[in-house]
Amino acid sequence: MSLPPGFLDELRTRTTLSRVVGRKVVWDNRKSNQAKGDWWAPCPFHQEKSASFHVDDRKGYYYCFGCHAKGDALSFLRETENMGFMEAVEALAREAGMTMPARDPQAAQRADRRTQLAGVMDEAVKWYRLQLRTGAAAAARDYLARRKLSEAGQERFGIGFAPDTRQGLFQALTGKGIAADLLVDAGLCARPDDGGAPYDRFRGRIIFPIRDARGRAISLGGRAMDPNARAKYLNGPETELFDKGRNLYNLGPAREAVAKGAPLVVAEGYMDVIALAEAGFGGAVAPLGTAITETQLQMLWRISPEPVVALDGDAAGLRAAQRLIDLALPLLEAGQGLRFVILPEGQDPDDLIRAQGAGAMQKLLEGARPMVDLLWQRETEGRNFDSPSGARRWRRPSTR
Ligand code: UTP
Ligand code: MN
Repeated sequence: MSLPPGFLDELRTRTTLSRVVGRKVVWDNRKSNQAKGDWWAPCPFHQEKSASFHVDDRKGYYYCFGCHAKGDALSFLRETENMGFMEAVEALAREAGMTMPARDPQAAQRADRRTQLAGVMDEAVKWYRLQLRTGAAAAARDYLARRKLSEAGQERFGIGFAPDTRQGLFQALTGKGIAADLLVDAGLCARPDDGGAPYDRFRGRIIFPIRDARGRAISLGGRAMDPNARAKYLNGPETELFDKGRNLYNLGPAREAVAKGAPLVVAEGYMDVIALAEAGFGGAVAPLGTAITETQLQMLWRISPEPVVALDGDAAGLRAAQRLIDLALPLLEAGQGLRFVILPEGQDPDDLIRAQGAGAMQKLLEGARPMVDLLWQRETEGRNFDSPSGARRWRRPSTR
C-alpha cells in the first residue's frame, strides 16, 4: 500500500516519541528535562546502567551515545516490537487518532489475489491433515512415531500426509469448487508438458506447511518416506505468495518466543526446528531449502541482535557457517552479531535432542561461539607468524 503525500509527516507531528519509547524504558528523571521534551534513559538496545539513550520530542528522534542506535517512532516500533513498516504506521496512526488511507486499487487487487491463494493453501493444508488419519497413511504415522514427533507437535506444526496418487488433492479441491488454475498458481499442482490435466506436486510425502510471519500458509515442504526417493525434501515453487529467500520456517511463533526471552536459533531443516521447539527452544527457525540470504539475515537481526546458528556437524555445515560469516561481515552494524553452535560430527539438532535430550542442546547453546572466534580461527589457521612472509601479510599498510 502506498501512503498519500503528507500522511507520514502528519503522523510524525501527532506522535510524541517519548510516549512510544516510555513503554520500553525507565527515564532518568534527574538527567531529563521533560518541559523541553528532552529525555534520557538507559538504552533499550544494549545493556547499560547509565542513561546514554536520548529522546528529543521536538525533533522526534532518538539517539544512543553508547551503541549509536538512532531513529524515529516508526523505527523504534519496528526494532522493539518486530513490526513491519506498515504495521508500525498503523499502530501509530491508531494512537494518533488518524484513519489509515484507503488502499490504491492495484495494491488492493494484489492483496485480494494473495488472500485468495492463501485460502487455497489453507484448504490444501486441511486436506493433507485429514489424509494423515486415513488407512493409506499408516506408514506415514509409523514414520512420524519413529521420529518421535508427538501428536501435539504434529498438531502445532500442521503436519499432514500427501498420498501417493496423481490427483488426490486436485480432485478433492476442484470438487470443492476451487479453480484448477488457482491450484497451479499456488504451487500445489503442476501442468504436464503435454497440456493435460494438472497433477499433485506432492505425492507419498509428509507435508510441512510453511507459514508467513502472520501465520498464513504460503507453501509446503514435503519429505519422502522412501529412502530411495529422488529428492529427500521437495519444497513448493516460488509463487505470488512464496519467496524462499524472504521467509523463514516457523518465523511467527519464533518471533513471539524470542519476545518472551527465548534465544533465536537458526537450524538447517524443518525437523530440526520442530525438535527444537518441542524441546522448549521456541525461538527456532530455518531457511527453506536454500542457503541463508541477506534478506533472511536482516530479518533475523530484526528479531534478535545475536541469533545463534546451529549447523549440522558435517563438512556441509561448516561450509555453511563460513558462507554465512562472509555474508554477515559487510552487513554488521553496532550491537549486531551471530553466534555459532557446531554440532557433534554427523548430528543435527533433531538427532542430538533425540539421542541426548534438551539438556544437551541447552549446554551447546550456552557454549555458542561468537562469530569473531570462528573468523579469527579461519584467518589464522595454517599461518606461520614467525616467518617474514607470514608476518608481512599481517603488517598494516603504510599510512605515508
Ligand atoms: P538435511 O539433509 O540436513 O535434512 O536438509 P534434515 O533436515 O536433517 O532432514 P531429516 O532429518 O533427514 O528429515 C536440511 C534442509 O535442506 C532442505 C530442506 O529444507 C531440509 O529441511 N533440503 C534437503 C531440500 O530442500 N532438499 C533435499 O533433498 C534435502
Ligand atoms: Mn535431520
